[in-house]
Amino acid sequence: MASSQYFFILAIVAIIVPSILATEFVVGDDKGWTINFDYQAWAQGKEFHVGDTLVFKYKEGVHNVLKVNGTGFQQCVAPLGIEALINGNDVITLVTSGRKWCICGVAKHCENGNQKLAITVLPQTVSPAPSPVSAAKECVKPIYYGWMLVVFGILAMVMMTASMDALKKQNEELATKLIAVEGRNGRRERELEARREKEHEERR
Ligand SMILES: *[C@@H]1O[C@H](CO)[C@@H](O)[C@H](O)[C@H]1NC(C)=O
Repeated sequence: MASSQYFFILAIVAIIVPSILATEFVVGDDKGWTINFDYQAWAQGKEFHVGDTLVFKYKEGVHNVLKVNGTGFQQCVAPLGIEALINGNDVITLVTSGRKWCICGVAKHCENGNQKLAITVLPQTVSPAPSPVSAAKECVKPIYYGWMLVVFGILAMVMMTASMDALKKQNEELATKLIAVEGRNGRRERELEARREKEHEERR
């Protein structure tokens, strides 16, 4: 059916569009997340937006990633008890705008190796659907809500069009049947008329 084809296409659009609009930054590019790399120079000239992701690539166990505040960045200290990202392919989604800081918490990689990153995250480029949830919850991508709304709106329209098409087809079929029935009735009437005339003539 046509409507399931539309559904399929729209489902794909819903998945692909946000990932096209969001950019994935591999921190340090092919150098990855390491010591003695100028991450300030790396970040310079790049535009980070809400919805984008940072990927920290490194050999597992050699480094880690800690999210800190501005003071933590300056002094290379992380708040006690925060969880480090440690798997060597760590993805951070930029959920809110503003300054963001990450440091490596292993040995003195931050102090002596300058393994620290500070970026400014700009609001997302696509206007989001107003959602109180996105402001409150950290790990939610508000960009998805906007696109989902748009896509489901289109989907609803497509479904309606499809069911209207189906109704129209049903109507047409009914009309055809009606014409057939009328045709049969007409034939019967003509036969009756002929018989009546015949009887009339025989009586004369
Ligand atoms: C920044 O983080 C440090 C711990 O690393 C903490 O002591 C300090 O209060 C924080 N500052 C702000 C403004 O949150």
